[in-house]
Amino acid sequence: MAYSAKDYSGLIGMEGFSETLLNNHFTLYQGYVTNTNKLLDSLAAMLKEGKVATPEYAELKRRLGFEFNGMRLHEYYFENLGGNGTLDKSGKLGKKLAEEFGSYENWERDFRATATMRGIGWTILYQDNIPGRLINQWINEHESGHLAGCTPLLVLDVFEHAFMIDYGLKRADYIETFFNNIKWSVVEARLR
Ligand SMILES: [Fe+2]
Repeated sequence: MAYSAKDYSGLIGMEGFSETLLNNHFTLYQGYVTNTNKLLDSLAAMLKEGKVATPEYAELKRRLGFEFNGMRLHEYYFENLGGNGTLDKSGKLGKKLAEEFGSYENWERDFRATATMRGIGWTILYQDNIPGRLINQWINEHESGHLAGCTPLLVLDVFEHAFMIDYGLKRADYIETFFNNIKWSVVEARLR
């Protein structure tokens, strides 16, 4: 069954994000969905044709991590946007962040520091499904650095395409805008 691109046009009008930037971003996301489908189809065809012990097969397999995560991370990202940025600090997630990081502010400091690291990729607040622990993690591009057995709770795109049209090189200003638009109810619903 092929993946289909979800419609995030409801995010247009979000404060701090221009329509041009968002439309470009949606187009990029749709490209990841298309390429994920193409890759999975090609790999399945190669398996059928007995062409698995080939360099082409190996390269396509490696590529899947890039395209699939490029698709899925954008879905987490767009879905945790469109809110008013207000987290109820006495709620389940607010309490858990404070408990794990010493205070909510400490968590936010660590998340922002992770997001302003040099390079392109993603910043993810993960929950480790085994002990339930929370960890802020940097992902290089789309596929390097994921923590096995962890669920993404809050996902921030820090590829330049996510902000340059509106913010130039001012990544910290974009991160501020991101925080102002987080839909915390979605993030909290991902917490177990
Ligand atoms: Fe992106």
